[in-house]
Amino acid sequence: MCSPIEKLANAIRQRGDVVVFSGAGISTESGVPDFRGPDGMWRAVRPVTFQEFLASTQGRAAYWAYKIPLAKSMTGVKPNAAHKAVAELFHRGKVRLVVTQNIDGLHQAAGLPEDELVELHGNGLRTGCLDCDFDQDTLAVIEDMQQQGREFPLCPECGGDKLKPRTVSFGQNLNEEAIMRAQRAAESCGILLVIGSSLTVSPANHLPILAKQAGALVAIINRGETQMDNLADIRIDGLAGEVLTDVVGRLDK
Ligand code: APR
Ligand code: ZN
Repeated sequence: MCSPIEKLANAIRQRGDVVVFSGAGISTESGVPDFRGPDGMWRAVRPVTFQEFLASTQGRAAYWAYKIPLAKSMTGVKPNAAHKAVAELFHRGKVRLVVTQNIDGLHQAAGLPEDELVELHGNGLRTGCLDCDFDQDTLAVIEDMQQQGREFPLCPECGGDKLKPRTVSFGQNLNEEAIMRAQRAAESCGILLVIGSSLTVSPANHLPILAKQAGALVAIINRGETQMDNLADIRIDGLAGEVLTDVVGRLDK
């Protein structure tokens, strides 16, 4: 009887055509906190919705108050073994697309080409202005804001007060094209491989359902349970870095 890790390595070796769906759990070994894991972010703070952000200066101040520690937690972090294993699988021609809910840019930093990545929730490393085309590194925006002793930044170009990292907040619409691309890939792949997601946030958490309905093999690597464990043909409860390194190591055997 082969182990789930061996089953996954065999499936990747024989079928290939993997669509990876990654969540915050793939980045915790790089030091970026997740949201709903044992020491997740949402246990400490409540996210400010897009509507609250737009509604008032208090909303914008509250938004930046919780965003600053999150942005700083992503400073100087490096891709870990899990990101590297996913990039390795891509370079071996086994991964067709990576769909991520993460905003930390670590898949790209591990060598995955931008074109083969769908960032469903955007990317927090850059900040834009909702009223003009201003764009700047998020940490530089935070530095200026703190130097000016402000609770939320003002746009240096138009003077507007709606600067926001290029991420999708609760209540904000996801990029339609990104969702469509992720759904099309899930409906036509050989394996949908979920890595480090509790699969609680829709519509992203429908990808395993779409893949299953289309006849793909669904594999989930996650520490602790997810909302879609019942769908998994292969379920591995472990640390993404360790598990994925083991899987890649078995491909040559
Ligand atoms: N290896 C494997 N699994 C891990 C690891 C690890 N090293 N570290 C944490 N996990 C697991 C956690 O136990 C948890 O079940 O990863 C899962 C992460 O789940 P969430 O914190 O809910 O993150 P995610 O599924 O990406 O959340 C989706 O919700 O709040 C929004 O926008 C936010 O993109 C996020 C979205
Ligand atoms: Zn502006």
